[in-house]
Amino acid sequence: MQRRHFLAAATLSLALPPLARAQAAKLRVGLMLPYTGTYAQLGTAIENGLRLALAQGGGRLAGREAEFFKVDDESDPAKATDNANRLVTRDKVDVLVGTVHSGVAMAMVKVARESGVPLIIPNAGANAATGPACAPNVFRTSFSNWQTTHALGKVIAERGQKKAVFITWKYAAGEEAAAAFREGFEKAGGTVVKELYLPFPNVEFQALLTEIASLRPEAVGSFFAGAGAVKFVKDWAAAGLKDRIPLYGSGFLTEGVLPAQGEAAEGIVTTLHYADSLDTPRNKAFRAAYMAAYNKVEPDVYAVQGYDAGLLLQQGLEAAKGDPANRAALLAAMEGAEIDSPRGRWRMSRAHNPIQDIYLRRVEKGDNKVIGVAWKALEDPARGCKL
Ligand code: BEZ
Repeated sequence: MQRRHFLAAATLSLALPPLARAQAAKLRVGLMLPYTGTYAQLGTAIENGLRLALAQGGGRLAGREAEFFKVDDESDPAKATDNANRLVTRDKVDVLVGTVHSGVAMAMVKVARESGVPLIIPNAGANAATGPACAPNVFRTSFSNWQTTHALGKVIAERGQKKAVFITWKYAAGEEAAAAFREGFEKAGGTVVKELYLPFPNVEFQALLTEIASLRPEAVGSFFAGAGAVKFVKDWAAAGLKDRIPLYGSGFLTEGVLPAQGEAAEGIVTTLHYADSLDTPRNKAFRAAYMAAYNKVEPDVYAVQGYDAGLLLQQGLEAAKGDPANRAALLAAMEGAEIDSPRGRWRMSRAHNPIQDIYLRRVEKGDNKVIGVAWKALEDPARGCKL
């Protein structure tokens, strides 16, 4: 009797046209982000942005409700493969979205390549994800580590400061940021006299700040983000360096953290693919909607990248008529996507990374003010990508 019942149900579902069957089920979205540790705030902003994009699309993706399967990845690469595999094999997600930390993201790329599940990276800049490890089902809505600091190096040299130090954390994002900075700076006539590293997510900056004071560079470039960026900027000012050596960074240095950095951040110049103060109707509408949805919390670049991940997913699923199993249509639409983003319109490169403007910003009265465009429509070189 029971068996007959089961067969009847199975027959009924097969009797439905494929589209109706696909619409009956929720879309399973695996969300792997840091909710604890130095990048916790970044993870929350990304999720908020993603949810806002879905809400603005009527709470559905191509007619389907989304069900989220969430993992706190703790920005810990050692746990990343197991975490991503669990989402794919146990939770059977239709799509993976994550993450912030480059090392964790590369484990997700490996799982995505092995399983074929589409992956959208809403932050981590690991060059390899859209370089040698690029894949038809791997997309990024943020940036490559090369993009932001390559532009920064060029800007500093053009400002006439030709002897620089770069300081960062010793992991993929920091090392790639330092290498891209050196490339951009030296191409424009500068010399990097030293790269200084500390382990991620260590914030004991004192010894390195003392070394910078003794090296007396004309400028210092940096990559730090989240809680670590707050501590670095405050320690820099407390060490008396603020009025002696110009401090620059990729924009993560002052992004989403200005209230916590306070006066110490004033005057810092950075390069990034977004700025709060972008004076466009699109950005203003996004900021107003985000603040209305999240209790007046101001959005930042991480929220924008999560929002754009939602827009990308919408475009892909609409082309696949709501059925993620229609991978060919889904991936083709994401590959050809043009995103009307709060940062400005951007499109996917051949390697699936945004081709986008990099803005020059300066912290003024607690705001990242746009003071120019450091690089128009900058495309990552996608070295080693064979797509
Ligand atoms: C990264 O690990 O790729 C990263 C983390 C925070 C901000 C930017 C990049």
